[in-house]
Amino acid sequence: MADLTGQIAVVTGANSGVGRSATELLCRAGARVIMVCRSRERGQRALDEIQSGAPGASVRLEVADLVEQALVRRLGERLADELDRVDILVNNAGVWRHKRESSPDGFEVTFATNHLAHFLLAHLLLEHLRTGRGHIVNVSSEAHRQGDLRRAAIETIARGDAWASGLQAYSDSKLANVLFTTELARRYGDQGVTAVSLHPGVLSTRIWNQNSGPISLLMRLFKPLMSGPDVGGRAVLRLAEDPGRDREVSGTYYKVEKRVDTAPQAQDDELAKELWDLSAAWIGLGVR
Ligand SMILES: NC(=O)c1ccc[n+]([C@@H]2O[C@H](COP(=O)([O-])OP(=O)(O)OC[C@H]3O[C@@H](n4cnc5c(N)ncnc54)[C@H](OP(=O)(O)O)[C@@H]3O)[C@@H](O)[C@H]2O)c1
Repeated sequence: MADLTGQIAVVTGANSGVGRSATELLCRAGARVIMVCRSRERGQRALDEIQSGAPGASVRLEVADLVEQALVRRLGERLADELDRVDILVNNAGVWRHKRESSPDGFEVTFATNHLAHFLLAHLLLEHLRTGRGHIVNVSSEAHRQGDLRRAAIETIARGDAWASGLQAYSDSKLANVLFTTELARRYGDQGVTAVSLHPGVLSTRIWNQNSGPISLLMRLFKPLMSGPDVGGRAVLRLAEDPGRDREVSGTYYKVEKRVDTAPQAQDDELAKELWDLSAAWIGLGVR
């Protein structure tokens, strides 16, 4: 059993699926966990259930809809005020949309939630990550292999103007998660901040219920055959432990428990840098 006694972990999308399972496991390992959820009601329900399953767990709720940058910024400020450090950041919240939708900041909703919100949150917590153990687990997907951030200008994709399908938008956002991880490891490895990305498995979670697109309908049919979210939760916990602290491992990608190579585009350093610089400009932060 992992021992993360006293470590401070922030988990996004913590009320459901992989994030909920990871939260429970981090609590059982002794971490102090901050659950970031967009619905107070769903978040509180999950928190109550986690506490009743693990009495004495140190866990609390922060409510923020990550689709909107102003709300992510307020979340980051609240966390930065309250905490003296962050040891583990699990960027897990994710959406899949079958129709093009725009975020309040004018980005395609999948890109805004799955990539940009986590890019922003990580930067808002950067000083705290540097002070703490400073380890980030970005929950990506094998779908990153279908991602293509070269099919049009990245800004066109990010704004939804190159919309092809929900699957393409999801895959692009998951490719962005992997590129963010490698660039983060490259830029901040010498400052004690490490990062890994993860495919948590093909799991029976609510992500397949989020819309009525054909792939979601198909996946819902197969849900009874899928593993439960705990497979992903355990993979997150394992990566929240020490392996990712090794500079050799930082920046790598795991398919559940196994370290594997990423898609060729995810290994494109120029693309990673371009996405980073654009993301930094879009969130309006002075990042290096
Ligand atoms: N399930 C799979 O087979 C699979 C495979 C590969 C990768 N993944 C990845 O695993 C991660 C977790 O997904 P899951 O499968 O556990 O699905 P899930 O059960 O639907 O969980 C997604 C979580 O993200 C939260 N979320 C969505 N939009 C948000 C927003 N705007 N602001 C704040 N929170 C938001 C959801 O909150 P609500 O409850 O309010 O909706 C929920 O807590 C995602 O990044 C997904 O891409 C999943």
